[in-house]
Order: sequence, then C-alpha cells, then structure tokens
Amino acid sequence: MSSAPSGRARVLSATPRNIALLARCLRDGGLVAVPTETVYGLAACALQEPACRSIFAVKGRPLVDPLIVHVASMEMAEPLAVWNKTARTLAAAFWPGPLTLVLPSIDAVPGIVTAQRPTIAIRRPVHPAFQALIGRCAFPLAAPSANPFGYISPTTARHVLDSLGDRIPFILDGGPCALGLESTIVDVCVPENPMLLRPGAIPRQEIESCLKRPCPSSKPSDGSPPSAPGMMDRHYSPRVRLRLFPHGSAPAAARDPNDAVLLFSRPRDPITLSTPSMYWLTENGDLAEAGRSLFAILRKLDERDHAAVHIEEPPSDGLGEAILDRLRRAAAPEPGTV
Ligand code: TXA
Ligand code: MG
Repeated sequence: MSSAPSGRARVLSATPRNIALLARCLRDGGLVAVPTETVYGLAACALQEPACRSIFAVKGRPLVDPLIVHVASMEMAEPLAVWNKTARTLAAAFWPGPLTLVLPSIDAVPGIVTAQRPTIAIRRPVHPAFQALIGRCAFPLAAPSANPFGYISPTTARHVLDSLGDRIPFILDGGPCALGLESTIVDVCVPENPMLLRPGAIPRQEIESCLKRPCPSSKPSDGSPPSAPGMMDRHYSPRVRLRLFPHGSAPAAARDPNDAVLLFSRPRDPITLSTPSMYWLTENGDLAEAGRSLFAILRKLDERDHAAVHIEEPPSDGLGEAILDRLRRAAAPEPGTV
C-alpha cells in the first residue's frame, strides 16, 4: 500500500489485500476510482443513494445525467432490468467488454443512479482489477468516467490523481487503459429497434453484424435533453482551443507560431516531421492505437501553452466514428460563445 499526503488520494495496486480494503470502502459508502479497459471510472455502491449522490458532487455532474451500473456477471445484471432477446444476444457477444446496454429498469437501484428515468445503463467490464473489485463487493457499482464533468476522460491513474486527487480517498491503479475510448452505448429497450446512443470502443458495424440489423444513432429531434451526455455538443474538452481539419488535407491557415498540429498518423515527410509542435495519434494509421492515445495526447496538449491546436480528423470507418465523435465534442464552442 502506498502512502500519500493527507487530502490526496492513495493510489493502490490490485493486490488481494488492497481489493479487500477498497471493497470495504465501497460497502461503507465511499468512492473509489477504478481502472477499466475503456477509461478510469469513479465508482460507488449502486445501491446506496448518498454514495451515488457524492459521485455527482465530486465530478460537478448535473443530476439529470444518469450513471452506468457495472456488474461482475450476468447473474448480477439480471435483477437490474427487464431483459429481452436482443439485449441477451449483445451481452453474449460482447460481455465482458466495452458495451453498455440501456434497458427498461425495474427500480433495483436508487432513482439518482438512473436520473429518475425508466431505463438503466448496464455494463460488464473486462478489466481484471475492476472485475476482482466488483466480484469482491458482490454488489453492482455505479461509475461514470473519473473526470471533472465536461473535461477529458482519464486513461491512467495519474490523470485521475491530477484532476480529482484532492476529492477522493482511493485510486485503484490498473495501468493505462487498453482501449482508451468509452464503451459503446446501445439502447435495446425496443428489441426490434436498437439505437446507438454513443459510438465507442466497439464499432457500430460489429453491433450491426452481430444483430444482423441496422443500429442507427439516436438523437432527440424535439429539443428534449440529450439521452446521453456523450450527445451533449461540448464534452471531453481541454481548455486550449481546438480546430479540426479533414483527413488527408493540410491544416488550415494556422500560422500563429504558438499553434500546434495533431495529425492522425506519423508524417513520412522529414520536413513536416521536424516541424516544432507537430504531434500524431498513431505511428502507422492504426485506429486502435489512435483511440488508445487520444485522451492522453489531448491532456498533454492542454498542459502546453499553445494558442490553438489544429487536429486532423481520423478516417471515418470502424473506431474512427468514436474518435471523430470525441474530437467534435472536444472542439465544440462553449455555450454562449461562437
Ligand atoms: O466506458 C465507459 O462507459 C466508462 C467506464 C467507466 O465504464 N463510463 C462512462 O460513463 O463513460 P459516463 O458517465 O462518462 O458516460 C455514461 C453515459 C452518459 O452519456 C449517460 O448519459 C449515459 O451513459 N447513460 C447512463 N444511463 C443512461 C440511461 N438510462 N439512458 C441513456 N443514457 C444513459
Ligand atoms: Mg464521461
């Protein structure tokens, strides 16, 4: 167990002793930041209203934005929702893993978790340390991403420590997240009509080929609040100004010497390569590598004093959809600005 100055989270590795300590903390209503294969989460016992309420307070998250409930097994997931064949097919194909299913809720968790909605979002993660912790708890864990609301999602324990370290007691360190993009969220309340609420670490095409039917995006057209804040216009946002440019084209007229350029893949041209403030998401165009590095690079760029960062959009196939979604939201203007 490592020690830390008081008022700062203790960062613990996943030893059996630490897992037992963290399970006790969660059982007693405390919060623990946890590693997952997608991004780090901020977990509380999903059955305890005050514990879940403190997640919202720590993140500065509006109470209208519901939490994902994480489970260790299908047995733990069954009593939380009304299951149907489409949901079971997707769970059998992709769990444990980066897929969140939205199903009709049966009020097994306090209303604060689901933001008083009639539905519940459930995910069975594959990260071994998180699985060990939920298994040890034997109750489901509500967990949003472990970042201040609206900021970039954390993909290392250090990211969590940097932005929430003075507000939580413990961080379970499971290493850098293997995928680096949040889970794909599919609303399966109407089994014949699955809807993609958030593109994520499982590409839409994989969901569609598993179900053998289309899985269109859901966007409220009536001006009602977004059904997932991944659908809010501005999210995942660093403080530095971001501007996107189309894949394969040259960055637009950005010639402030303080500007940076973030390319999709490593440039071949040695002159471009030696340009100061030039970064890239992947060495050779691999979308999985780009997804894994995206949030860490955005954080790094935010720490430097660039006037603006010009970012090349990824190719739009496969994981590119989720990467582009995060970039567009990160680059969206703040409400009330142009
Ligand atoms: O990969 C992930 O999903 C990570 C890790 C920690 O599991 N979690 C995550 O949580 O990204 P969060 O809170 O940052 O995003 C969860 C999304 C939000 O957009 C929320 O609105 C949506 O899930 N959500 C939760 N419950 C919902 C529900 N009942 N109906 C529709 N959307 C829901
Ligand atoms: Mg989030």
